[in-house]
Amino acid sequence: MSDAIKKTAEFIVAATNDFKPSTGIILGTGLGDFADRIDTAYSLEYKDIPGFPVSTVAGHKGRLIFGTVEGHRVVAMQGRFHYYEGYGMEQVTFPVRVMKLLGIERLFVSNASGGINPTFRVGDLMIITDHINLMPNPLIGRNKDDFGPRFVDMHNCYDREFAALATSIAEANGLKLQYGVYVATTGPTFETQAEYRYFKAIGGDAAGMSTVPEVIVARHMSVPVFAVSVITNCGLSDEIGDHEDVQRQGRRAGEKMGTLFVEMLKQLK
Ligand code: HPA
Repeated sequence: MSDAIKKTAEFIVAATNDFKPSTGIILGTGLGDFADRIDTAYSLEYKDIPGFPVSTVAGHKGRLIFGTVEGHRVVAMQGRFHYYEGYGMEQVTFPVRVMKLLGIERLFVSNASGGINPTFRVGDLMIITDHINLMPNPLIGRNKDDFGPRFVDMHNCYDREFAALATSIAEANGLKLQYGVYVATTGPTFETQAEYRYFKAIGGDAAGMSTVPEVIVARHMSVPVFAVSVITNCGLSDEIGDHEDVQRQGRRAGEKMGTLFVEMLKQLK
């Protein structure tokens, strides 16, 4: 697999004229519009990248975008791979390994999730401060020694300095932020009421079906992580709606998330 990762990275380096992004961004469900804020230099469809899995979910565009945001060089995944689609964890996390080989120094991750914390409202942005992983661990199997150690420390998994920067930017821009623990499930079912209550009892603030595999693999490679969740429904009070509802709510709150990302990138130059 390491060879496959290296081959894919080599292909991309050649296809993008050695673009060298400094920040990797993963755009979650309904959050792909952030791509409009990127001054695009190169755009590669997943299907045209050797070794890349191909996205199957409606609303997930499958492309890798290279460009600048306020002069800051980024590579953004418009569309990610979910475990519930049937991909193995190696495939779900493959792009993060590739982005590391392309030179990223940090990873920004976004997703849509269901609020569990009763103070959360639909459309809130939650800075992920920690997680509870109820999915299979993507590092199970032979360790990729050339990427990182067998046993990975998960303290400060979500970089506190990025969270502090987000807080000061939110204050300056009048954006409301929530903070909390993300519970990762395989999906594709949304939670039962009993499961939402269980997640609340074990310390969760929001539940979703992504992010944690990519974050674990980023931390395996010592890449610092900033992660934001858009609360698209409130599990303990709402009926869930359907996937289109989640996408619609994601797009609305996505504007706020976009502002946060742009302002952070400006300051991280
Ligand atoms: N649960 C899990 N994943 C989700 C939810 C939810 O309530 N909402 C959006 N993604």
